[in-house]
Amino acid sequence: MAAAHRAVDNYRRPPWLSTVEILDLRHFSSDDLRPLLDREVEVWGGLLAWDYRGSADMILRYVDAKILPGYAAVERGSIVGYSFFVYEGSKGVVGDLFVSPRRPDARAIELQMVEHIIATLQQSPGILRVEAQLLTHQAGELAVNFVSAGFHRYRRLFLALHLRGADAPPIPPVGMPRDILVRRWSEQDYQPAAGVITAAYRAHIDSEINDQYRTNAGSNRFLNNIVRFPGCGVFDLDSSFVAIHRPSNTLIGLILCSRVKDDVGHVTQVCLMPEYRGQGIGESLIATTCHSLRNRNFSLLSLTVTEANQRAVDLYRRLGFVELRVFDAFVWEG
Ligand SMILES: CC(C)(COP(=O)(O)OP(=O)(O)OC[C@H]1O[C@@H](n2cnc3c(N)ncnc32)[C@H](O)[C@@H]1OP(=O)(O)O)[C@@H](O)C(=O)NCCC(=O)NCCS
Repeated sequence: MAAAHRAVDNYRRPPWLSTVEILDLRHFSSDDLRPLLDREVEVWGGLLAWDYRGSADMILRYVDAKILPGYAAVERGSIVGYSFFVYEGSKGVVGDLFVSPRRPDARAIELQMVEHIIATLQQSPGILRVEAQLLTHQAGELAVNFVSAGFHRYRRLFLALHLRGADAPPIPPVGMPRDILVRRWSEQDYQPAAGVITAAYRAHIDSEINDQYRTNAGSNRFLNNIVRFPGCGVFDLDSSFVAIHRPSNTLIGLILCSRVKDDVGHVTQVCLMPEYRGQGIGESLIATTCHSLRNRNFSLLSLTVTEANQRAVDLYRRLGFVELRVFDAFVWEG
């Protein structure tokens, strides 16, 4: 057991003080954290139909390597909550925050951890921006601490579309304009797709939330993270497509999908060059992904969208997506 653990065990607190202490996550090992992550896996499965085991295993490996900055909420030697963050150049990204929901004081512990994370990141030399999107937390739950520390808040929706069963709406046929060809994502698409993402999100609310979208290099990093690394589910090539303008042979849109559970897909990106919008191409890309997933017995397709992105929200609702959750994205620029 870690030394910090024993220190907590031995310390006798007056009864009117909370018995929970916030300690550096790097004092602990995967054995200490695993019971809490098992509980978190259940919560992700229940709320978001998302199998969090892959992410949990990755977190545990980083914890054992003592390279994950973050905090543990510790009571009588057990971890009852944890949070971690990562540094990406001059940006800090809050990776996760979870407290055992069985505790009546869970919210108070979460807010205490939020304070620690914000203070640490805002005071880290060279950190000019902090982003946080905590999907399992209902909008508003943690807002007070973020907003009072100078963060902007954006409401985001977690939506899902049933692909099978009685709740499944009909998937529209794929009706692309004649000069648009759709084909599977392939290795050659990174550079042109990065250009499409950067153009699609220029002056768009989502590039306030995710600054990677603002440059080609950032969009390329985003694509590499989504396609090559299992941070946001496992990339599903069979349901990921690009739209090509045939006459000029240029890539003008894309939809990328990951597998977040055996039978659940998650759209990690869908966008079009501005001049190709409003012709049903976006709808057809989503329909193409839905057909591929349904043919392979997937039962659900989920995605996240900023509530203020009205055009996209309207399109998803029209296709039959329903709301599973409303959560907050927070952004601070120093
Ligand atoms: C979201 C996005 C992919 C939608 O693509 P799109 O091709 O414009 O969507 P569609 O054309 O299928 O549908 C959008 C509207 O065009 C209408 N439309 C469809 N076919 C049309 C046609 N032939 N002529 C004119 N309008 C048409 C649809 O009825 C729909 O109307 P609505 O806005 O009243 O719902 C696109 O707007 C985009 O790239 N946005 C920026 C990036 C973004 O926000 N991505 C989503 C992040 S979650």
